[in-house]
Amino acid sequence: MAHEWLDKALFYEIYPQSFMDTNADGIGDFQGIIEKLDYILELGCNAIWLNPCFDSPFVDAGYDVRNYYKVAPRYGTNEDLKRLFREAHMRGMHVLLDLVPGHTSSDCEWFKKSGMADKNEYTDRYVWTDNIWSNTEAVHNTTGFIRGGYERNGAALVNFFTAQPALNYGFARVDQPWQQKYDEPGPMATREAMKDVMRFWLDMGCDGFRVDMAGSLVKNDEDQAATISLWQDFRKFLDEEYPNAVMVSEWGEPDKSLAAGFHMDFLLHFGPSNYMDLFRVEHPFFSREGKGDAATFFGKYMRNKHLADRGDGLICIPSGNHDMQRISKYLDESELKIAFAFLLSMPGVPFIYYGDEIGMRYLEGLKSVEGGYERTGSRSPMQWNKKANAGFSAAPSDELYIPIDPDKQRPDVMTQRRNINSLYSTIQQLAEVRAEHSALHNRSGFKLLHCEKFSYPLVYERFDEKEGTVLVIINPSGRDTEIELTIPEGGETIFTYGGKVAAHGDKVKIPAESANFILINV
Ligand code: NOJ
Repeated sequence: MAHEWLDKALFYEIYPQSFMDTNADGIGDFQGIIEKLDYILELGCNAIWLNPCFDSPFVDAGYDVRNYYKVAPRYGTNEDLKRLFREAHMRGMHVLLDLVPGHTSSDCEWFKKSGMADKNEYTDRYVWTDNIWSNTEAVHNTTGFIRGGYERNGAALVNFFTAQPALNYGFARVDQPWQQKYDEPGPMATREAMKDVMRFWLDMGCDGFRVDMAGSLVKNDEDQAATISLWQDFRKFLDEEYPNAVMVSEWGEPDKSLAAGFHMDFLLHFGPSNYMDLFRVEHPFFSREGKGDAATFFGKYMRNKHLADRGDGLICIPSGNHDMQRISKYLDESELKIAFAFLLSMPGVPFIYYGDEIGMRYLEGLKSVEGGYERTGSRSPMQWNKKANAGFSAAPSDELYIPIDPDKQRPDVMTQRRNINSLYSTIQQLAEVRAEHSALHNRSGFKLLHCEKFSYPLVYERFDEKEGTVLVIINPSGRDTEIELTIPEGGETIFTYGGKVAAHGDKVKIPAESANFILINV
């Protein structure tokens, strides 16, 4: 099977600004990541998603690319990034870069040339109205216009922040004279330009891309059919030229993204997946108060899973990311262990957000850094040890990119590594169990056995032909519970937290706050 490594991939997301600073400038760098590759591997992760590391004015933490072909000097050089790929590959690891195909920085040369009055190669690279004064009504999936400051008599559509002009992939439904159909030469040339960017980094050694706002490229495309066909074209390009490359989409609708040719899609904190019900609502399913609901989530998940299984696509459930509040804001250490038992026993490709493995806190009330706003609290420096700046940087503390968690009790890697009962050690153990048991691998089978609305426990099976079945029984609630379930004789418990389950006849008693994986058919 193509992309065989995805079957065992376990990703670690790195926000490069905050991971490890080796030159004492207060901000992380490539060398820091290289030095921590063994740490990531020891945790059990064998793949990395690196947030944007390209030249940028950093109005949106690098999601405003100024030069697609050059890394930001604060992280190192293109050569350093190439070395990172090499070092990762030497350890059997894979690295995905963050591709931001929907918009650039307004500081990008492409945009400056596009704003010139005289026609040039970049005239159609962005979406411009045909008159600076034209009444620019909102276009679906966009956030406004840049008006003024350029010779060109028009306003440019923007995607996210005002400094992020939208690249022109055209419109599915054209309802203004300045809008181009998605298959016109201008939009088609933008596609080719983005393929060149991909070629450049794939040739340098990256293994593929996490794709930013993948579902939003073609405008006025409410059912996303044109955007889906655009990505099918990108997938064809990869299959022909870089068959080993993979793409994971920030889309959150696997029914669409996987049909579009993405190898994987994330469930997100927005969109229709009900991902938030599990970890980040007033009553999360994984809270011991036991008032949460996983059934709505699973209703949607199962529908998407059936569609994903028809192709070769994978659904990714992340522990968090740089855009959402850290999972530890809602769950304490014991609850987190059970949440990770779920994350690391589900099918698809798990993603761990840096620092979640030690329960790093969401820092409330921080001043916004690089367009982070409330997201800044999830982007603080990694806490490695008990030394100054938690071992992240030798810079003076007031020069750090984002202040470090000031709590004296803040978690750190060194302390948790020494404690076999820590969150870090539990996650490491879970990753090891997942790696050792093929029934738990990313593409192995999945069957939901018990999941009722606002009720506990959650029970499912993972299985494959080689190994048989692993029964996963999870009860995050603070109450013991009993359900009808027959566990065949001879089962071997391969992971347990919070107490083992007790089978009697056709019933099973499940302790409060527990997670158990039982290998049967041995
Ligand atoms: C999604 C990214 O994850 C987020 O951080 C960014 O601000 C927006 N897309 C805009 O690119």
